[in-house]
Amino acid sequence: MAVSAFQMLVFFVGFSLMVGLVSSAKFDELFQPSWAQDHLAYEGLLLRLKLDSYSGAGFQSKSKYMFGKVTVQIKLVEGDSAGTVTAFYMSSEGTNHNEFDFEFLGNTTGEPYLVQTNLYVNGVGNREQRLSLWFDPTKDFHSYSIFWNQRHVVFLVDDTPIRLHTNMENKGIPFPRTQPMGVYSSIWNADDWATQGGRVKTDWSHAPFVASYKGFEINACECPASIAADDNAKKCSSSGEERYWWDEPTLSALNVHQSHQLLWVRANHMTYDYCSDTARFPATPLECLHHRHQ
Ligand SMILES: *[C@@H]1O[C@H](CO)[C@@H](O)[C@H](O)[C@H]1NC(C)=O
Repeated sequence: MAVSAFQMLVFFVGFSLMVGLVSSAKFDELFQPSWAQDHLAYEGLLLRLKLDSYSGAGFQSKSKYMFGKVTVQIKLVEGDSAGTVTAFYMSSEGTNHNEFDFEFLGNTTGEPYLVQTNLYVNGVGNREQRLSLWFDPTKDFHSYSIFWNQRHVVFLVDDTPIRLHTNMENKGIPFPRTQPMGVYSSIWNADDWATQGGRVKTDWSHAPFVASYKGFEINACECPASIAADDNAKKCSSSGEERYWWDEPTLSALNVHQSHQLLWVRANHMTYDYCSDTARFPATPLECLHHRHQ
């Protein structure tokens, strides 16, 4: 019996819903320039941010969001990128803000980029981790994602988890759960600290330094500015009527495969972890003690 076009359509729609197919948007559907518009160029699917001795550049999402997954594909500055930092992050506003950061620390030609991640909760950061990558991030586009639900925040590179921050409110440790967050990216000069501890300075004869972006995806709960934070938090929490995909039980913890990937990244690529920096934190941060037992 031939499968009718209708059956195929039903199958395809059902399948798309099941796997939650996300299509990436054009830059200006989701984002707008936030700094130095003349150092930012976009043509349809591709965006370029430029840093020179006059200015860096940046963009931000038009809306704020709670929970879900945000992804961009980035091709980092090629050749000499020493002294430059390219950042991709989510942040809320105010003095007790929350923030989830990817910071890509440039390097001299041929030397490896480092990825620094950090997490601010209620205005407090100091949770840096650094790792090298298992590929050259300046040769091709790779996807960088932040996944966030009520249970954890996960940083992913090409869908491999590189960092997990678990909700441990039951141990009295605050978790970012009530503030809508914008999505941001920028490139700037940070040669006082970024490369080899600040020893290598930006060589402006190699400017402009260009980071390229495509594949913008935000699959999250949108929080209109006209709605109070509390009401947005309520709207974005799964309830009887509405269950968001990021609250599915299978996403409440990493699966076995992802846990192994994270262990592999930590064992082979981690160069710094605030949790083991006893010079900086003579008393191990509480969340690190608990993370260890997971
Ligand atoms: C830059 O390269 C040096 C030498 O390979 C390395 O020690 C350092 O971790 C790299 N990354 C940064 C951001 O300094």
